Amino acid sequence: MKHSEILEQAAKFAKSVHAGDASGHDWPHIERVVRMARTIGAAEQADSFICELAALLHDVADEKLNPSKAIGLAKVQGWLDSQPIDAAVKDEVVEIIATMSYSGGAEGMRTLEGRVVRDADRLDAIGAIAIARTFVYAGWKGHPIHDPELPPREFMTKEQYRSGKTTAINHFYEKLLKLKGLLHTETARAIAEERHKFMESYLLQFHNEWNGAL
Ligand code: ADP
Ligand code: NI
Repeated sequence: MKHSEILEQAAKFAKSVHAGDASGHDWPHIERVVRMARTIGAAEQADSFICELAALLHDVADEKLNPSKAIGLAKVQGWLDSQPIDAAVKDEVVEIIATMSYSGGAEGMRTLEGRVVRDADRLDAIGAIAIARTFVYAGWKGHPIHDPELPPREFMTKEQYRSGKTTAINHFYEKLLKLKGLLHTETARAIAEERHKFMESYLLQFHNEWNGAL
């Protein structure tokens, strides 16, 4: 089977997993990450097949969409095993997906392809679309837009932290504004600049309006 056919099958599989998602992990998110992974991968001279395959499958195992990360990863592994793909390629794709998440942190991603796909995913959480995804996610979780009494997690009292409550606006300070500094490639860092500034000016305007600016 040609690489292009395997990618077509992977797209079909990922589309079936993400169709109808209302948590910000919908199929258009996957499409954007694939497109961005192509752009970054070409600039960084990464293996295009591995980048695209990993980008297509990167959120199939997401903990938020599965009973556990292990169950999610088994789903990815099961699909890969059903395809005529080199064992070494399968192993790399599984490794990338297992290491992808933010909670996987700022720690190293072993392969260039992993760094490319992780950067592509992180770029989709920086900028105008990221703002939309954040509010969609907060709505999905039942979190309010904003609460000046509830600071970002690192500034919460123990009681506030234990309550598990947070807001959409907190997410910018807890994660989104930090992503620019966690990118691996120069290509992604350059793309992040404008998007990051846009989020900063959005937040400024948000707080101005919240505080009654006319
Ligand atoms: P991905 O799995 O695509 O790497 P995440 O699952 O961390 O990214 O987040 C997906 C999207 O959901 C992001 O754009 C992020 O803004 C949003 N999101 C994740 N956690 C929260 C949260 N606690 N509050 C608001 N938005 C969130
Ligand atoms: Ni993602």
